[in-house]
Amino acid sequence: MVKKKIRNLIDIRDLSVEEIDDLIKVANDIIDHKEKYSHKCDGKILATLFFEPSTRTRLSFESAMLRLGGKVLGFSEAASSSTSKGESLADTICVVSGYADIIAMRHPKEGAPLVASSKSLVPIINAGDGGHNHPTQTLTDLLTIKREKKRFDNLTIGLCGDLKFGRTIHSLIAAMSRYKNVKFILISPDELKLPDYIINEILKKNNIEYIETNSMTEYMNELDILYMTRVQKERFFNEEDYLRLKDYYILSEERLENAKKDLCIMHPLPRVNEISYDVDDDERAKYFTQAYNGVYIRMALILKLLEVE
Ligand code: CP
Repeated sequence: MVKKKIRNLIDIRDLSVEEIDDLIKVANDIIDHKEKYSHKCDGKILATLFFEPSTRTRLSFESAMLRLGGKVLGFSEAASSSTSKGESLADTICVVSGYADIIAMRHPKEGAPLVASSKSLVPIINAGDGGHNHPTQTLTDLLTIKREKKRFDNLTIGLCGDLKFGRTIHSLIAAMSRYKNVKFILISPDELKLPDYIINEILKKNNIEYIETNSMTEYMNELDILYMTRVQKERFFNEEDYLRLKDYYILSEERLENAKKDLCIMHPLPRVNEISYDVDDDERAKYFTQAYNGVYIRMALILKLLEVE
């Protein structure tokens, strides 16, 4: 018997630019014609295996499958699974892939979803692995950028905050580096700079223009997108360092004084203190729209990986 080849989503570059365009088209169609999709996954089951906390990713995946007519099962913390009794990830995946048609998993260890995909009988979706990658957040971000800016080319993107541990940043850079004339302004304290492997293997290798700076405002007038991130407390070894860095950047209306009128302000959320609440009323603030978009692009992704027409 020939084993059917399974598509997984471990890294955003597992999807071609054309496939991402198709997913965005489907997501936009779902937004406009929700009823048309409400039985596409009748009889299918999504497992959400979350070994780390989540609000948006887990619930938007579950909402996505329920809105497609499917069902969901899973756990939201390692402590309530047999991982707490010492079961290996490989064994957990072998078992759960017999209970579900597709698995979305989040894990604190970088590379865990890749390991899972080698054991699984069903598609594995990386819903965040440590400080490494978060490809479905990037799909959410790309849908938001396309809907708000109408293009991926010719954009100057400010990435601000924890560029070292911020996995959404790493995946977004990998995705946006495939478009023309994209420039990154990398705004972080020295301790939280973008890792060298991303600078070398993505930015330098593809001749992508980038500037590293400590200043949140120096290049504000050039930005088409400002992507804020929280300092990732859970990745710090030392609480003193976290406390020193956590409020390094706080975006306020005052700091947006020189920003473009059509700037798009994004944040993967959760927000801690890095965007003050007065910015929420600014029509350029798109982070809640971004979170809503997550359901529709995940619906499109589930359809694609399950090969549902
Ligand atoms: N953006 C994001 O991954 O949020 P959660 O941690 O709440 O899933």
